[in-house]
Amino acid sequence: MNLVTARPEDAPALASIHAQAFDKPWDESDFEGVLEAQGVFGLLVQGEDPAGLLICRTVAGEAEILTVGVAGWARRRGIGQSLMTAAIDLARQGGADRMFLEVDVGNAAAVTLYERLGFERAGLRKAYYDRGVDGFADALVMRLDLTGGAH
Ligand SMILES: CC(C)(COP(=O)(O)OP(=O)(O)OC[C@H]1O[C@@H](n2cnc3c(N)ncnc32)[C@H](O)[C@@H]1OP(=O)(O)O)[C@@H](O)C(=O)NCCC(=O)NCCS
Repeated sequence: MNLVTARPEDAPALASIHAQAFDKPWDESDFEGVLEAQGVFGLLVQGEDPAGLLICRTVAGEAEILTVGVAGWARRRGIGQSLMTAAIDLARQGGADRMFLEVDVGNAAAVTLYERLGFERAGLRKAYYDRGVDGFADALVMRLDLTGGAH
């Protein structure tokens, strides 16, 4: 597995991973647009097939994970953790002093991963995700201090 910086040309690979990780995936033009935006970086993990992605945006010292996902076939091999660790390092190198993300409170895989990396629960956004026939789900806001050294 190879972790590289994602470029707009990688949009097809990114969209293919996203479609395997989310019910409402971003399309290729979403990825092209976001990767051209100021303060944004993307990461892509390539195996034989595209395996994992992460998009992060930093504004005024505050980094936000916009999306992170791993294709179903590639899960539980450390890719999500590698992506997050790389993003934390890059955001810190870029001058961010804190990182935030939002996650469905019921997403045990992601919440476990983030807590393992040191993220703390910072708040709850009620009925944040529209799950269609399944109703609405709350989003947990999680925060990591980037000033305290390596994670
Ligand atoms: C969340 C996600 C990115 C994790 O990616 P991954 O590559 O499978 O995770 P890793 O292999 O790096 O796991 C690292 C640790 O996270 C935790 N973890 C990951 N998946 C887990 C699961 N299904 N259940 C419980 N803990 C889990 C474990 O502590 C794991 O360490 P371990 O395997 O040594 O026990 C992946 O499940 C995914 O893409 N899910 C769908 C999209 C999504 O929910 N994205 C996050 C939205 S905020």
